Amino acid sequence: MFEICHVFAKVKNSDLEILKDFSLSIKPGEVHAIMGPNGTGKSTLSKVIMGHYNYEITAGSLLFEGEDISKMSVDERAKRGIFLSMQDPIVIEGVSNSEFLRTAQSEVTGKKVNLYSFIKEMEKAMKDVSLDSSMLHRSLNQGFSGGEKKKNEILQLKFLKPKFIILDELDSGLDVDSLRIVCSNINDYLSVNPNTSLLIITHYPRILQYIKPDYVHVMIDGCVKKTGDKSLALEIEKDGYSGINTMIGIDVCE
Ligand SMILES: Nc1ncnc2c1ncn2[C@@H]1O[C@H](COP(=O)(O)OP(=O)(O)OP(=O)(O)O)[C@@H](O)[C@H]1O
Ligand SMILES: [Mg+2]
Repeated sequence: MFEICHVFAKVKNSDLEILKDFSLSIKPGEVHAIMGPNGTGKSTLSKVIMGHYNYEITAGSLLFEGEDISKMSVDERAKRGIFLSMQDPIVIEGVSNSEFLRTAQSEVTGKKVNLYSFIKEMEKAMKDVSLDSSMLHRSLNQGFSGGEKKKNEILQLKFLKPKFIILDELDSGLDVDSLRIVCSNINDYLSVNPNTSLLIITHYPRILQYIKPDYVHVMIDGCVKKTGDKSLALEIEKDGYSGINTMIGIDVCE
């Protein structure tokens, strides 16, 4: 589904290179987790996949379902089914949550959204993620608590029905009950859409107890240094990254 091959990426209009020969191959239905120290490039990777204007790919390829998406705009990528739940969801003052969701759903599906069915679907989805219905009418993420912002990202996921989901530190800011609720929403989505793939960026193994990863990768200094199964996440929790730091990057590309 996703082939990220030897990608180098830097901050636009600067020499700051963040992704350094990053490679990852993700098949339909697989769940991959990425762990790594602060500042190692995990969020940058998620933004590069999404096409954020701040970053520039200087080498390598980004193939989604066999198609090179590296030159596509953010909305073209979203329309192809790529979704990012951001580490720090942005605030958009003056755009209500419901307006945002309805417009995004209509853009991504290419269909006009019926207001009545949208409201019905919305009421149920808000209940599912345990968000108060008053949040629908507030400006997007404005004044939302850390956890409410994360739940709101998952609300978007439920409406946009992506094929490839990136969760960048979904677990930061969510209390234990909320994390369980949000993960159960994601697992329900995956059971209905079994070909959907997931990339979970996290610092802690807790989220991986709810959403079971097929692979866990350790990213250090802009590339994958080690890949294993979920036991690798527990190893990191126990021993940290010092033993992995000196390894040479692994190559998953042919
Ligand atoms: N637009 C930018 N301008 C300058 N530096 C940047 C920019 N974007 C990212 N960086 C730097 O690149 C490095 C990687 O940042 P990134 O946010 O990808 O780290 P991360 O692995 O997600 O860290 P964390 O675990 O703390 O979220 C950091 O040192 C960051 O300061
Ligand atoms: Mg980050």
